[in-house]
Amino acid sequence: MIVAIDGPAASGKGTLAKRVAVHYGLPHLDTGLLYRAVARDALAQGIDLDDAGTAAKVASGLQVATLDDPALRTVGAGEAASRVARHPAVRTALLAYQRSFANRADGAVLDGRDIGTVICPDADVKLFVNASAEVRAMRRFLELTGRGIAVSEASVLADIRARDERDLTRGSAPLVQAPDAVLLETSNLDIDAAFRAAIDLIEAAMSCAGRAG
Ligand code: C5P
Repeated sequence: MIVAIDGPAASGKGTLAKRVAVHYGLPHLDTGLLYRAVARDALAQGIDLDDAGTAAKVASGLQVATLDDPALRTVGAGEAASRVARHPAVRTALLAYQRSFANRADGAVLDGRDIGTVICPDADVKLFVNASAEVRAMRRFLELTGRGIAVSEASVLADIRARDERDLTRGSAPLVQAPDAVLLETSNLDIDAAFRAAIDLIEAAMSCAGRAG
């Protein structure tokens, strides 16, 4: 079973994807880490993030063993990721790895922005996780301050809005809900309730597919 989970920054899709993967015993790929790692490597090599050709070369040479680097979890890394993610050549360079991860024998859970639309258009289940910008900013603010990082609520909200703008309006694989994805609106749900809702939606989609097959 392939589960595609897309949504904007700080929508909770990553936490949800992790829990869904554990629940079904499937491997999980947080595809945002790929873009974050490309930006990290580009910056380390002194490459301009707006230089598509050079960024794509960095993406082609990406070592996926480095995706557990804690430096990829910062606000700055997310911001830099959204700059390299605009380049079609970077996206193309990362496509094969994501597709081969998804096409493992037992399936997989992938989360990102274009999983249901580009990476796995034939996924068995597609969820689009969303919440208002204010709710997402508050969650991110609590997460960052909980980790001892000093930020203001206003700056976190501004970052979320800037990232939304970049991800929604870019020409290549913009963030959009796939026509066959189910919307999971989590503004009024805590993570446990969102997880239960996700499992219900996945079970419903699988039983529908079973009946159709
Ligand atoms: O999900 P995360 O916030 O880690 O993603 C960082 C950035 O990487 C996003 O803002 C987006 O620009 C880009 N991204 C993408 N496609 C994906 C995953 C992430 O363009 N599948």
